[in-house]
Amino acid sequence: MNPYFVGLLVPIAVSLLLQKRRKVEKKRGVPVDVGGEPGYAIRNHRFERPVETHWEGVNTLAELFEHACKEYLYMPLLGTRKLISREIESSPDGRSFEKLHLGEYEWKCYAEAFKSVCNFSSGLVNLGRQDNESVAIFAETQAEWQIALQACFRQNITVVTIYSSLGEEALCHSLNETEVTTVICGRKELKKLIDIGWQLDTVKRVIYINEEGISAEVSIAQNSTSWSVKSFEEVGKLGAEAPVDANMPLPSDVAVIMYTSGSTGLPKGVMMTHRNVLATLSAVMTIVPELGKKDIYMAYLPLAHILELAAETLMAAVGASIGYGSALTLTDTSSKIKKGTLGDASALRPTLMTAVPAILDRVRDGVRKKVDAKGGVAKKLFDIGYSRRLAAINGSWLGAWGVEKLLWDRLVFTKVRAILGGNIRFVLSGGAPLSGDTQRFINICLGAPIGQGYGLTETCAGGTFSEYDDTSVGRVGAPLPCSYIKVD
Ligand SMILES: *[C@@H]1O[C@H](CO)[C@@H](O)[C@H](O)[C@H]1NC(C)=O
Ligand SMILES: *[C@@H]1O[C@H](CO)[C@@H](O)[C@H](O)[C@H]1NC(C)=O
Ligand SMILES: *[C@@H]1O[C@H](CO)[C@@H](O)[C@H](O)[C@H]1NC(C)=O
Ligand SMILES: *[C@@H]1O[C@H](CO)[C@@H](O)[C@H](O)[C@H]1NC(C)=O
Repeated sequence: MNPYFVGLLVPIAVSLLLQKRRKVEKKRGVPVDVGGEPGYAIRNHRFERPVETHWEGVNTLAELFEHACKEYLYMPLLGTRKLISREIESSPDGRSFEKLHLGEYEWKCYAEAFKSVCNFSSGLVNLGRQDNESVAIFAETQAEWQIALQACFRQNITVVTIYSSLGEEALCHSLNETEVTTVICGRKELKKLIDIGWQLDTVKRVIYINEEGISAEVSIAQNSTSWSVKSFEEVGKLGAEAPVDANMPLPSDVAVIMYTSGSTGLPKGVMMTHRNVLATLSAVMTIVPELGKKDIYMAYLPLAHILELAAETLMAAVGASIGYGSALTLTDTSSKIKKGTLGDASALRPTLMTAVPAILDRVRDGVRKKVDAKGGVAKKLFDIGYSRRLAAINGSWLGAWGVEKLLWDRLVFTKVRAILGGNIRFVLSGGAPLSGDTQRFINICLGAPIGQGYGLTETCAGGTFSEYDDTSVGRVGAPLPCSYIKVD
């Protein structure tokens, strides 16, 4: 007999022999009585009342960040890839595509990030911001976004976030309703602002993040509007020259007003206090095991969305590293990545990521296509490996994680894992329902749990969250321990 097949059969036989018949079902959510009203549920008996903070003595997001920076000083926090080159490739049918060649991640450690935050925060005050005036961040996900956010928190400034896909009317409405005086933006967003500038009654200052080619927009803004236009670096420098004491918020102060695309009409701003967001972060700490210094988080979803904002704020609280990327440069085969160069995930090798179902569906389809294209033995092996792991998830603990797992990893799944850098240990999906099929597929291919969460901007994301060891699919899990859920 072919020794290769013996090697294959032995671990299968062993795991079949040791297979446990049925797993004991763990209680994941229990009913509770809140003020005599029936129908509430909380996560489980471990939590008698909703959690408020996981960190002793920390009651606001501003305190949380300071606490982390003092603890993790020289650990890397914010990672960004430098642009090496930008090329325009044209396809045979005459369309042209922009392709990027991006370098390795370059890191800012916690201490450096804290310094940037303090400087920017002082700079905002030095620019002449008055109490009660809010600041809007209207830009793509990047390190400056996080720095600006934390800087505002330190001065008890409410941050207004605006989804970048919102139309002109919605944008106007959001900035107007919150009486924003200062907008922090990138290039595309500055262009949009200039277009509607005449309708913005309260905006006085624009701080632009230095993106390639932005000087054209800056010059237009300087010539045609009454705004004071400054670069992100200038504001930081202003703050470094004249530091201002922090003006820390209270837990009940509003940290963020988030405008997302509502289902109907103009978007509504959701007000979140420091206490609200902190409770979500604290609850997630109880769900995902061992969040900490070893974790590397792939940041590419819009920060104007509560899922990403909560995830990054949590990463920055536990000593993890945040590597910034974008949906169009995520993998080696992403549309904006130059052929032969690394996508964000390959360059970063993250351990954690958040995803929306559309992205996971795309990964699944990509893998299926590749496997089908290969055909032959490769496809057979993939199919056997897949069904073995599926059976293992249903029944035997050993099959899922023992010798046989190693074998199938070697033969099949390592290559699939490599698409997302090879080190993913947990994926959180949120924002829309994830199909059970995709969840199972990605779960099996990555050999890592895909947690599913459910929440609203209004609940600071933290509604429900499936547990690390929950192998069922198509469910959003039990209530997070920061929430009660009432089923009417
Ligand atoms: C923070 O700002 C809000 C209004 O912007 C104000 O009501 C609140 O008192 C401030 N908190 C502190 C601690 O100063
Ligand atoms: C903005 O608010 C002002 C009053 O504060 C109002 O006069 C103006 O029409 C509003 N503009 C838009 C575009 O909503
Ligand atoms: C802005 O004004 C300066 C000097 O007044 C001029 O040189 C420049 O071309 C103007 N830029 C734009 C975009 O109009
Ligand atoms: C897994 O178990 C569920 C029910 O417990 C069953 O419906 C499903 O067919 C099983 N799948 C496999 C591949 O054994």
